[in-house]
Amino acid sequence: MLSKKLFTAFNDQIKHELESAYLYAAMVAWFKSENFDGMAHWMEVQSNEEVEHAKKFFEHIFDRGNVVQLQSLNILANKWDSPLAAFTAAYEHEQFVTGKINELMTLAKAEKDYAAEVFLHWFVEEQVEEEDSTLKIVELLKKIGSHSHQLIMIDRDLGKRE
Ligand code: FEO
Repeated sequence: MLSKKLFTAFNDQIKHELESAYLYAAMVAWFKSENFDGMAHWMEVQSNEEVEHAKKFFEHIFDRGNVVQLQSLNILANKWDSPLAAFTAAYEHEQFVTGKINELMTLAKAEKDYAAEVFLHWFVEEQVEEEDSTLKIVELLKKIGSHSHQLIMIDRDLGKRE
């Protein structure tokens, strides 16, 4: 079983992952409203990945003999000034999630819960990828500034995400 502390933290992480999915779904809606269909697609894939992350915690909690207690979700934001602002918010949100995963790892080590540690390794690596992919788009959007033709090209490229 997970210790009480670790159970609470893992259970909270389900909420963080689902709020990530909710945030990115809000970005899908915003990008669609701005006719950036490629970016909307990219964020939809991202949002779906976050649901999968939440499911991994959900399963692990049950696998350890504890019972998940779902919580209410918050809407973190639903409007941005530009694609750059939206992707910057996504990058900052990923940094927040990385902090949460690191806290979980610190707790798992303190509690000597080796199974939790092994489970969290995947998330530590995933967060490196999550921050990298959003930061790369932020940097690209910064470079093109207000060149609308290049913005359309980036939108098209991001729409190819599988
Ligand atoms: Fe599940 Fe993007 O962190």
